[in-house]
Amino acid sequence: MSDVAVGMESMVNAIGANNAAAAFRAKILHFTDQPDPITGAGIEYFDDGVLVVEQGRVKALGDAQHMAAAGFDLQSCQHFPDQLIMPGFIDSHIHYPQTSVIASYGEQLLDWLNNYTFPSEARFANAEFAALAAHEFLKILLQNGTTTAMVYTTVFAQSTEAFFSAAAQMNLRMISGKVMMDRNAPDYLLDTPASSEQDCRALIERWHQQGRQLYALTPRFAPTSTPEQLAGTGKLYAQYPGLYLQTHLSENLQEMAWIKELYPRARDYLDVYDQFGLLGPRSVFGHGIHLSDLEVERLAQTGSGIAFCPTSNLFLGSGLLDMARLENAGVPVSLATDVGGGTSFSQLRTLAEAYKVLQLQGQNLHPLKGFYMATLGNARALQLDNYLGNFAPGKEADFVVINLGATPLQALRQSSVQSDSPDSVKSLAEKLFALMTLGDEHNIAHTYVMGKKVFSRAPATEGALSWAI
Ligand code: GUN
Ligand code: ZN
Repeated sequence: MSDVAVGMESMVNAIGANNAAAAFRAKILHFTDQPDPITGAGIEYFDDGVLVVEQGRVKALGDAQHMAAAGFDLQSCQHFPDQLIMPGFIDSHIHYPQTSVIASYGEQLLDWLNNYTFPSEARFANAEFAALAAHEFLKILLQNGTTTAMVYTTVFAQSTEAFFSAAAQMNLRMISGKVMMDRNAPDYLLDTPASSEQDCRALIERWHQQGRQLYALTPRFAPTSTPEQLAGTGKLYAQYPGLYLQTHLSENLQEMAWIKELYPRARDYLDVYDQFGLLGPRSVFGHGIHLSDLEVERLAQTGSGIAFCPTSNLFLGSGLLDMARLENAGVPVSLATDVGGGTSFSQLRTLAEAYKVLQLQGQNLHPLKGFYMATLGNARALQLDNYLGNFAPGKEADFVVINLGATPLQALRQSSVQSDSPDSVKSLAEKLFALMTLGDEHNIAHTYVMGKKVFSRAPATEGALSWAI
């Protein structure tokens, strides 16, 4: 861990000479690499830090007192005393059309899709409905401190158009694509290999690498695509540079039995996707709970990633992801909510459930590793770390201001952290662990996108509580 200012001279100059810059003073945490909680490597924390943003990008980061000694006027900062600034959270797997079916009772994956998800997705044939839903979804992400996500839309191209339009209007960096499904779903949700190829081409040409938007080919999962549609997807994947691919893999045991019936000649579930050229470092497979050793090896060989969706895996009774096995094999694992199978948009709640899923298997999730995953780790897993994920100079300045004590219980827990040396890794880790275990969207005080404040939450006050004892 370092308290040495990064780019201090340029920061002083930036603020002094250019009033397009803005400075933010708070506790500041970001990661420069996978953290080592013992040595502090990979962790940069300032107990009293300053982040300077210019034209939407990080200009510099430093310790406030060092800055002041170098002539920087701390009065020029927006000051968030006792609050914590971190890069915006990243969610590697989420479905925007499922916002309104979150918390639907009683089913495991296949019945949950049929009873809740498919009927909800039908409404996205209406472009106006989709536009309203996309705005609402993005606002909920921002309330939760999530500034970038890899997002499923629906089979309707107009729902994907609506999503990208909303994201572009809000200047958010998003990865998304039209769901492809040409069988085993209600007729009203089906496309064809030819229509999905045509729709995808049009959407890619309109949105991929336009502003902050990136396109992901999105065959929903192997049961809802014919081999012909998957072959067309592989052709597109090879044709356009920088495309992503997202789909689901080995989430549920019934789903896996179905794959055996539908693709009897495939070696295993992953092989279905592999045969059509869908693996690679920009491919993100949701879940991957029930994988064979050969599948894990093949994911690692091709650099393909797994999105770990703990609230969804618990809620839908899908199973427990063996994260250590994947990581030891060299498979990139990212952190995701999978709303509406997942039960919260909050990456804090997602980390809390990830911790418990791993505890049940004798594994741990160190809080520093957890917050690395939600920021730089996910940026790396999504090949976005050239753009964002930490506060390296030049990165896009998406960040959150976090209130560590959003409830009386949290304030009590945070105040009990022994902080003889306020910036020691141990006390930082303890504070972060309490934050991820007890926290949710109520901890997100402000969210900034490209240096601009886009969301603020009025602080909870004592006056909001009334007592009769
Ligand atoms: N598998 C195929 N579609 C879905 C979906 O929408 N959610 C989840 N969790 N799994 C899926
Ligand atoms: Zn999903």
